[in-house]
Amino acid sequence: MKENIDLSNLPAHIAVIMDGNGRWAKKQGALRIFGHHHGIKSVRDTVEGCVELGIRYLTMYTFSTENWNRPKLEVDGIMQLLVKTIGDEVPDLHKNNVRLKTIGNIESLPKSARKKLQDSIELTKNNTGLTLTLALSYSGKWEIVQACQQIAQQVKSGSLAVENITENLFSTFLATQEAPDVDLMIRTGGDHRISNYLLWQIAYAELYFMDNLYWPEFRKEHLFGAIYEYQQRERRFGKTSEQVTSVLKEV
Ligand code: FPP
Repeated sequence: MKENIDLSNLPAHIAVIMDGNGRWAKKQGALRIFGHHHGIKSVRDTVEGCVELGIRYLTMYTFSTENWNRPKLEVDGIMQLLVKTIGDEVPDLHKNNVRLKTIGNIESLPKSARKKLQDSIELTKNNTGLTLTLALSYSGKWEIVQACQQIAQQVKSGSLAVENITENLFSTFLATQEAPDVDLMIRTGGDHRISNYLLWQIAYAELYFMDNLYWPEFRKEHLFGAIYEYQQRERRFGKTSEQVTSVLKEV
């Protein structure tokens, strides 16, 4: 599959909704946390695949604002797994020139997780390869409201004029900041929804839903398959097919 990918037409930004860990675990007769543990191998494989291809941005939905409502045992288990995974994986990420970032309400995470994340972000901040962003205690609506609050503050203090609020300016107030909008959004686990993820950034993303695959089963071959499918689609951004193909010919 990798050989079929056109390296001159890669998605600059891939977002992933890692869904189906709980159902995968249930199928094995195990506790839900078992599924999250197995999901780590899939995370590693996905990151490796992105590094191999030279993808610029990968943003993974690791823990949503709404996930805080899960049973305490599961929430604690995911937080412990997060701390352990960061500890285990960051040396390798650093070696591979990956820059780690987070988006979301990081203040709400346990102190141990915050500390591990801050140290890892600091360690990898000058890396120039893949930017791996973990969405943690994140929701798209929360992010948009945060941006509005900051913009309103600036207008109130007189440092920003209302007529200077443009789409481009608005984007700079979002947590993803300098990252380009999402080109390809992948969701495993069979549900066809966005679940409050990157609502602004997916305006023109190609959506790729995997009906028969839970996250712990996801491997880089699936990533390559999704990228291949993305490359077969015609991205029109609201234009006609003729307009898009004539622009391509001119280039
Ligand atoms: C969704 O499956 C998955 C999560 C809410 C957690 C994802 C977390 C990990 C894979 C571990 C931590 C990752 C990193 C990057 C350190 P679900 O539990 O909603 O599954 P279900 O839909 O089958 O119930």
